[in-house]
Amino acid sequence: PVPERVEALMAQMTLEEKVGQTHQVANIHPDDDAELLRQGSIGSSLFASGATGGNERDEGVLAHNIDAAQRHAVEDSRLGIPVLFGRDVIHGHRTVFPIPLGLAAAWDEELAEQAGEIAAHEAVVDGVAWTFAPMVDLSEEPRWGRVAESLGETPVLSGRLAAALVRGFQGDVPGHPDRIAACAKHFAGYGLAAGGRDYDTVSVGENTLRNLHLRPFKAAVDAGVTTVMAAFNDVDGIPMHAHRHLLRDVLKGEWGFEGLVVADWNGVGQLVNEGVAADLRDAARQAIEAGVDLDMCSGGYSAHLADLVRDGVVAEKLVDDAVRRILTVKFRLGLFERPYAGEPTRSNAPTEQTRSVARRAAHAAHVLVSNNGVLPLGPDCGTVHLSGPFAEEGEALLGTWTLDGRGEDVVSPAAAFRERLGNERLLVSDGRFSDRSVQQVRNADVTVAVVGEHSWRSGEANSVSDIGLPAGQLDALRQLARLGKPLVAVVYTGRPLELGDVMDLADAVVVVWHPGIEAGNALADIVFGDVSPHGRLPMTFPLTTGHIPTSTHQRPTGRLIERHEDTRLGRYLDDLVFPRLPFGHGLTYTTFDYGPPRLSAPQLARSGGSVQLEVDVTNTGDRAGREVVQLYFRDPVAEVTRPLVELTDWAVLDLGPGDTGTAEFTVTAEQFAYFGRDNTARVDAGEIVLQVGPDALTGARTTVIVTT
Ligand code: IFM
Repeated sequence: PVPERVEALMAQMTLEEKVGQTHQVANIHPDDDAELLRQGSIGSSLFASGATGGNERDEGVLAHNIDAAQRHAVEDSRLGIPVLFGRDVIHGHRTVFPIPLGLAAAWDEELAEQAGEIAAHEAVVDGVAWTFAPMVDLSEEPRWGRVAESLGETPVLSGRLAAALVRGFQGDVPGHPDRIAACAKHFAGYGLAAGGRDYDTVSVGENTLRNLHLRPFKAAVDAGVTTVMAAFNDVDGIPMHAHRHLLRDVLKGEWGFEGLVVADWNGVGQLVNEGVAADLRDAARQAIEAGVDLDMCSGGYSAHLADLVRDGVVAEKLVDDAVRRILTVKFRLGLFERPYAGEPTRSNAPTEQTRSVARRAAHAAHVLVSNNGVLPLGPDCGTVHLSGPFAEEGEALLGTWTLDGRGEDVVSPAAAFRERLGNERLLVSDGRFSDRSVQQVRNADVTVAVVGEHSWRSGEANSVSDIGLPAGQLDALRQLARLGKPLVAVVYTGRPLELGDVMDLADAVVVVWHPGIEAGNALADIVFGDVSPHGRLPMTFPLTTGHIPTSTHQRPTGRLIERHEDTRLGRYLDDLVFPRLPFGHGLTYTTFDYGPPRLSAPQLARSGGSVQLEVDVTNTGDRAGREVVQLYFRDPVAEVTRPLVELTDWAVLDLGPGDTGTAEFTVTAEQFAYFGRDNTARVDAGEIVLQVGPDALTGARTTVIVTT
């Protein structure tokens, strides 16, 4: 059994060897680092891009280098402890799926699990044993570039998808040879960076953290996530890499997390920049005391931990606790049995089968946000003008954090459209307005404009102060619209953008995020009607940048706004603060009617009670379609201010034309639990308002009473 093996190994380790286990380096090199590996001084390595001399993307190179380094650790070191190799495998490895925010738009746990499984299956071929995903920071701030890597703004959707991804990456059986360890990151509050500026400070109280931001982490921990990464930010003045209360008391204590906590890149060293540590030695002391087990790339543990113990400043049991966790992960992964990736016995390039999952995932990422009937185009659509900076693009549509994805594997929109229409019925332009493009619009029956953000404009460190379309694109759309031909706008993006003008100009708008290698095929399937769009927004789209924040979790204030039942959400002199597109919004090629919600009983017991809620939904159009029926609630009287509306469950119905289906929900008292004034969990007796509908703002309401 693992615990015994860990203890037996630890009993043989010197203090230096233990500290070696807590040291993670970047881009290990089998020759340059051979001596340190032989000494047992490197416990883990991550590979960032351009890692091993820049050619690790060539078939087999990464695996070869990892194996060569591993050989020094396993065969030449005193105790033969294998190194744990990690890499950011965020939304696919070679088969690149939509960015996590796009995957979240699918509201589909099975699909997320499948994507995670394929990513793991491909990553192990390269010797990767650990991914730094899923990112489960709640993202309510569109200016923040990292929303692209998130699973959206609500704890329930993020938490359930995070759990699915953890299952996909890790599998059910610890140490399965085709699976890798997952990492829930960044613990905690990273999504609240001031002004959406990456790495900025975070002012949030523990109650809001517990009621919202910690919940997806708890879901990942409950799903068995092996590792958790500390966040770069502080929380109300205490940097997370020194946050003993959240790391030790809450994560490891209250939640019983037994895996390892890894620092973020130089997060330990940054305690000096944050002005809470005098030097790297002091930073190392604070981080180990707080509960950071593995030091990513600061070198602080490696340089100072042993001395800190010898000087009596740090208790050796803290180092032991970290090492125990690190070794446990290694044993559970089966690294002692299978330390080497071995000569790749299979290719990990995308296959027909992985492409078909990627295509399905990309379909699901398409959110049709407006449509006056122009879509789908159908077989008799005539000549199509495909216009815009992304028409011929591959790389730009892969999305942020795709270290191993390749631009040449991406099917571009133009390639997919050409396949269907041939050169005779397709005109392609790059979106710059010229006499030629005017002529193209005139010669075509419809224009499909592919606009939005390049992958590079979102992701880490890519915050923007204005969520409008990149420069020039709106003008180009205006010019196109002026020519009077039907106009479809396809928006590639890593974040919610300001889309009001685009929606006014275009006959239909589809938000596609960055969809991965099947970008073009999926777009063609949707635009030409082979597949009906069914994605739903996992983040609110504000009216303008100035309206941020507009997430679903706004809480009531003392001043209710006259007759805005939802009191959404205060006002400016020049505007009310309604979202442009609410969380959960997404159209299909058909329409649905909702019946009234039916409850099996008017009340449920506070402790363990449940009722059934049903709602009939009818497809009133003439095409099959998928409806994502969303259940929200509001607790009108609680100990603390509670969200005006909070997602608690959803059900997916696939309905043929004219069909009626029933969405069924088990509503439990547990779903209304929250953290009260003393930050302990509670369920109150009293009335709860339930809302069932197609998005966070729309839906029929009913009430249920929680009894004492
Ligand atoms: O996993 C990432 C993290 O999200 C941001 N900093 C670097 C890590 C490792 O690459």
